[in-house]
Amino acid sequence: MAQGTAPPADAAGTGIDVVDMAFWNRPPHERLADFARLRERGAPVYFAEPRVPFVRSGKGFYALVRHADVVTASRNAKVFSSEPAATSPEPPPWLAKVFGTPMINMDDPEHARLRRIVFRAFTPKMLATIEDEVRAIAARVLDRVEKDGPGDFVAQVAAPFQLAVICAMMGIPEKARPYVLSRVDAMTEYSGVRGSLANPRTLRLLAGNLKAIVDLHRFVARLGEARRAAPREDLVSALVNANPDGERLSVAELGSFFDLLLVAGNETTRNTLTHGLKLFTDHPGQRDLLLADYDARIGGTIEELVRYVSPIMQFRRTLTRDFELGGRALKAGDKVVLFYGAANRDPEVFPDPDTFDVTRSPNPHVAFGGPGPHLCLGANLARMELKIMFRELFTRLPGLRATGDPTYLLSNFDNGITRLPFTYDR
Ligand code: HEM
Repeated sequence: MAQGTAPPADAAGTGIDVVDMAFWNRPPHERLADFARLRERGAPVYFAEPRVPFVRSGKGFYALVRHADVVTASRNAKVFSSEPAATSPEPPPWLAKVFGTPMINMDDPEHARLRRIVFRAFTPKMLATIEDEVRAIAARVLDRVEKDGPGDFVAQVAAPFQLAVICAMMGIPEKARPYVLSRVDAMTEYSGVRGSLANPRTLRLLAGNLKAIVDLHRFVARLGEARRAAPREDLVSALVNANPDGERLSVAELGSFFDLLLVAGNETTRNTLTHGLKLFTDHPGQRDLLLADYDARIGGTIEELVRYVSPIMQFRRTLTRDFELGGRALKAGDKVVLFYGAANRDPEVFPDPDTFDVTRSPNPHVAFGGPGPHLCLGANLARMELKIMFRELFTRLPGLRATGDPTYLLSNFDNGITRLPFTYDR
């Protein structure tokens, strides 16, 4: 569709509206059934978007729900651009001016430059240096659970574990962590209700969210300046001081990278852990299979968990030129939304896609994004954390299980759980 041309309204006949938050408020299995219907239609289906105040939107998008289409769009970054934004709704241009542009919303060569610098945080060597610390954090979180007794898995286990890992990785001083946690909570509250900006409560949350981003940027800028003046053995020091090629992050770039880590790295792994507990409770046979040979099976189990859960539900791309995808002639300027959860249940690629099978192999899921320049930078960190925490949980809390239904986050982006009651044999 050229700019300004009326798009085909081909979602109309389906009775499915993935733009409406009511869709995301429905139980996950109902949403997946609708995505299966969209997949069966073959060619990508167009969805119109309403105009909302303060946000650039209204152009609509084609939903990519088949595995092959998500892979093609991820791989061809020159055609499927991450600019102006891979997130929806697109942030207004002033936001990027004030807070900087996160790498997830950039194309090469700017994206490649940033990725080269921050990649240092995620090399196997760097991950090995924090592995003992991640183990110690997991142990401390469970010491606390044993002291307080079981209650809510998100508040007691998943959230504190994940945030402590990110803070440890960045080298955030211990005494500043509660402050960072309070700002992250304020910052992510709005993401739970995105898409309904006309509502005054949402606008209040958005204001709180922006204030939290400003606070975090100030905090990280001060930390970056301190580490530039007196480097230490931590990630912030490594990022603000030059690499062997003379490249380094500016203090502003450090701020937007930190935001990205907090959002991309924090909620994803914490939601995977929480969904994992619920899945192992509902599928005790799969849990027993894992525990019968933890070391051999945990790798495959984690891949199956992220496939099945798809913690990030979507990212967006904008076409730079005309392109035929999955039988649809897309035009320069069109937008596509990559629905990872739908692609991860595509029966063309995954036999019996709705079965949770920890021995599934091969498992070419796209939960960490499709192959391409934006493939999740934190995937190996997430794998390491999940491996350590599940071992700690199953070893220290025998009979660990969810005792009720999860409370799901209302979001079209994070497949989040805000509360999950749990217990274990004491
Ligand atoms: C189960 C856990 C995780 C899932 C499911 C996940 C998912 C994703 C996905 C789907 C993308 C692709 C974005 C795109 O193609 O536009 C992505 C990118 C990214 N993720 Fe993750 N993520 C996880 C954990 C983490 C962690 C722990 C970190 C860091 C601490 C992290 C940092 C990033 C960053 C920085 C990017 C942007 C990469 C780029 O633009 O080059 N992620 N992630």
